[in-house]
Amino acid sequence: MKELKQESLLAFLYNDGMKKLLIIAVIILGVVGCATVSKLQPKQEELSAMQQKVPDVTLDRLVEGYKLYKTKCSGCHGLHSPREYTAAQWDKNLEEMFPKAKIGDDASKSLIRDYLHAKSK
Ligand code: HEC
Repeated sequence: MKELKQESLLAFLYNDGMKKLLIIAVIILGVVGCATVSKLQPKQEELSAMQQKVPDVTLDRLVEGYKLYKTKCSGCHGLHSPREYTAAQWDKNLEEMFPKAKIGDDASKSLIRDYLHAKSK
């Protein structure tokens, strides 16, 4: 009887330890994931650089475009960095990808396009 109790105590500690490990792993993954994504987030200090590519664009519009891009364009593959392509190359990609992502309204298209152009290479 005594032995059995000890065993279940060990099992409890072991399981709890695994749980803790899992929680720590999830936290680390979360932090790393956020750090990677946040590089793509448009920021105030890059606004003038982005306006060289998309004149008069506002930070609000770019953030909206970024959010749409993140939610609509990450379902089938990882997000491509906007810097992978020139604005013209993005237009070609988007022609193909808007239908895939089922984006039909001009407002959403224009938000995503402005965001990608503003941070394009
Ligand atoms: C329904 C799935 C799906 C969605 C949603 C989707 N894509 Fe894609 N995307 C693909 C597939 C499949 C490929 C690779 C084959 C191809 O080029 O058609 C691809 C390739 C790409 C490429 C690389 C093209 C190249 O020439 O290598 C880019 C850039 C891209 N997608 C951007 C986007 C953007 C931006 C969105 C959101 C508007 C988006 N994708 C949404 C399926 C999707």
